[in-house]
Amino acid sequence: MENPYLPYPVRIEEITIETEDRSIKTFRVAFLNPEDKKRFSYRPGQFAELSVAGMGECPIGIASSPTELGFLLFTVFKAGVVTTQLHNMTEGDILGVRGPLGNWYPLDEMEGKNVVIIGGGFAFTTLRSTIVYMLAPGNRKRFGEVSVVYGAQNEGMLLYKDELSAWQERSDIHMHITVDCSDGPFCKYHIGFVPGITEQKITSAENSVAIICGPPVMIKFTQPVLEKVGFPPEAMIMSLENRMKCGIGMCGRCNVGAEYVCTDGPVFTLAELNTLPKEY
Ligand SMILES: Cc1cc2nc3c(=O)[nH]c(=O)nc-3n(C[C@H](O)[C@H](O)[C@H](O)COP(=O)(O)OP(=O)(O)OC[C@H]3O[C@@H](n4cnc5c(N)ncnc54)[C@H](O)[C@@H]3O)c2cc1C
Ligand code: FES
Repeated sequence: MENPYLPYPVRIEEITIETEDRSIKTFRVAFLNPEDKKRFSYRPGQFAELSVAGMGECPIGIASSPTELGFLLFTVFKAGVVTTQLHNMTEGDILGVRGPLGNWYPLDEMEGKNVVIIGGGFAFTTLRSTIVYMLAPGNRKRFGEVSVVYGAQNEGMLLYKDELSAWQERSDIHMHITVDCSDGPFCKYHIGFVPGITEQKITSAENSVAIICGPPVMIKFTQPVLEKVGFPPEAMIMSLENRMKCGIGMCGRCNVGAEYVCTDGPVFTLAELNTLPKEY
């Protein structure tokens, strides 16, 4: 039996500085061993523990889609010890990836439905995975209308800018990108907070599922907007980012009530979250 605490070694192939304040970088990594690549079969919404030798590890959502072959993407905000070490690494360096961990967005159950994706800040990472997955040839027809509301503080803080532009050009996805404040008079995005833009743009809950991922304040004010439109708690899906240690249900660090966020989640419907103590 494999040791679940042992990470797979990966090499950093490319580092992209996502935001103008340089606080968020995307790491494109490739497995050193082809066997590890085969074992690492994941779905949008899952995460992995990234480790830096001698420093420790931390949970990071998988930003790539399983439809993108040959590499994994992780988008990392420089928060503390491990993420600062990651930010100090360069292309060619080796790090560890343990996973895939946790559950995933129920994309198979969402077939035939309209999908509303709502994201804010750097929590957009697993939403990128989901969008790329749904837009992949062969997958797009499985879903109805796809709408995205994505917000950041300003234009410089938006992630994946080239992809956002490409998605805005497509007719099979409705992109509603918004910034809290614009840096100039020619802002090509909406100006305003995510809940307000959601209220303007998402006007029907019929045959629809919403995936919401972002800072707590964004979720707090977006949830009533979706409820008003008619989304029931079963059709609102969220991803939690509780503090974690083992990521495999062994240490008890991440529990909310009787649920372990690392194994029962991080993806929950609002109906499920409503049965838990408000500790998340
Ligand atoms: C399922 C999951 C997915 C995640 N996905 C991403 C992702 O895609 N990109 C990303 O940048 N981050 C993500 N995070 C958050 C990331 O795990 C933390 O920022 C990271 O653990 C910080 O590690 P560190 O060693 O750099 O910081 P530390 O030195 O451990 O801590 C630095 C500061 O951050 C605080 N902190 C640490 N972890 C958390 C946390 N989970 N919630 C709130 N505060 C915390 C500490 O209290 C401290 O103040 C995710 C977390 C979870 C649980
Ligand atoms: S992180 Fe250890 S039980 Fe969830």
